[in-house]
This record gives sequence, structure tokens and C-alpha cells, in this order.
Amino acid sequence: MRRPIIAGNWKMNKTPQEANALAQGVVDGVADFDAVDVVLAPTAICIPGVEAITAPSAVGVAAQNMHYAASGAFTGELSAQMLTGAGCAYVILGHSERRQFFGETDEGVNQKVHAALAAGLTPIVCFGETLGQRQSGQTTDRVTFQVTSALIGLSKEDAAKVVLAYEPIWAIGTGHTATPEQAQEVHATLRTLLGDLYDADLADLVRIQYGGSVKPANVDDLINQPDIDGALVGGASLKADSFVALVRSAQASVS
Ligand code: PGA
Repeated sequence: MRRPIIAGNWKMNKTPQEANALAQGVVDGVADFDAVDVVLAPTAICIPGVEAITAPSAVGVAAQNMHYAASGAFTGELSAQMLTGAGCAYVILGHSERRQFFGETDEGVNQKVHAALAAGLTPIVCFGETLGQRQSGQTTDRVTFQVTSALIGLSKEDAAKVVLAYEPIWAIGTGHTATPEQAQEVHATLRTLLGDLYDADLADLVRIQYGGSVKPANVDDLINQPDIDGALVGGASLKADSFVALVRSAQASVS
């Protein structure tokens, strides 16, 4: 049985003060939900404050991006070692907004996945097709390529630690979520892919989140699909009550 993981991607939202208040609301609200991994991804500048608030709880902290190098002349970047030093346990990699607006490539994502794992961070690797790719029947090819690229050179042991996040680009921030059946179809395809790349044990272990307009009103049908192991949440993670409601649903899905 895979443990559900609900992660809030706050993107470029919340001042440090607002981030602390939101983190406190989440920590208080999810205290009883012990069957779910709960992760908050604030902006980098808010990580220390959020980490101080979440530290006594089971809530984990993620960065939204990192550089693959340990240190050096990369102005404006953060390394995996800096993130672990600040208390992060996770890092979101390859989000479609980073791919679209900041030139993130599949090769770069793979380098970052290696660096994250070497530093002890759990990578949450994002991928997904555009609307055009879906409409022209390229979804399977696209996500297969992205996931295969992200995992290049990883041992089975390391691959087991990766969290995958299927986020169809046409569903992110649009209010148009994939139907549970559409999402499940892709997740099942990816699990088959993991079996082909590694083996059935690995395929059974890796958690695959869905992301894209997840909210309390649609999370139950998604999370109850056999191959959907949680959610990566943008908009609905910016208020404690809606995010806590998602965690509650994930808890209910396993009990
Ligand atoms: P959304 O964002 O929930 O606002 O659609 C999801 C994401 O980008 O991770």
C-alpha cells in the first residue's frame, strides 16, 4: 500500500509573514491525519520560517526548484545542500512553469534529480502534456519521454525514492481538472513504464501524484483511483482550510 502524499506548491505567493500563518494553519489542521505525507513548498525566502513552524510536526518542507551543482558561480540559485541545511526534505523539480518560463530541460531535470537524491532530498518530479499534445494523441509518448528522461542513470534504490507528479499543463491553474479516468489512464501507463524500466516491485512502490486544479470538490474521485497516490496542489493550497480538506480526503482514502 503506497502512502498518499499531498503537497502544496505555493508558487510565487505569500510574504514571509503570510507564509508562516498559512503553515501554522496547516500544521494545526492536519495534526490527526497520520496516514498521509503532507508537504509544503513555499518560496525559498519563506523556507526558514515555515520550517521552524513545521519542525515539531510531521509536515515536510519542499523547495520549488534547485540547481544541480553543490556550489559555485550561479547567481540567484540554490543547491541541494543549502536546502537540506535549511530543513527541506523535498524539492519540486521540472514543474511546467519552470520548463515554460525558465528554460528547464529534461536533461537539466535529470541532473537535478541526481543531485537531490545524493543530498538526501526527495525529488517531486513534474511532467505533463500540453492541450495540443493531448488533442493530437501524443500524451503517452510525451509523459513516457519526460519520465524516462528524468530517471536516466538512477539505480532502482534511488528510483524508489522519487515521487512523480503528473500535471497536464492544460489543467494547471485553469479550473479544468483531468477527469479521474483520464488521470488514472496516464498513471497506469506510467506504472507500466516503471515496470519496464525497472521491475514490478519498483512500479508498485513509486508514488504518482496528480496535479492540476485539484480542490476539495474533486479530490475524492481522483485520490480513489488505484494508481493516484496523492496530489500536487497550487491554488487550493493557498488557504489552510481547503488544503487541510484535501489531506482529510487522502486520509479517508486509506482508512
Ligand atoms: P493548480 O496548480 O492546483 O493551481 O492547478 C497545480 C500545480 O501547478 O502544481
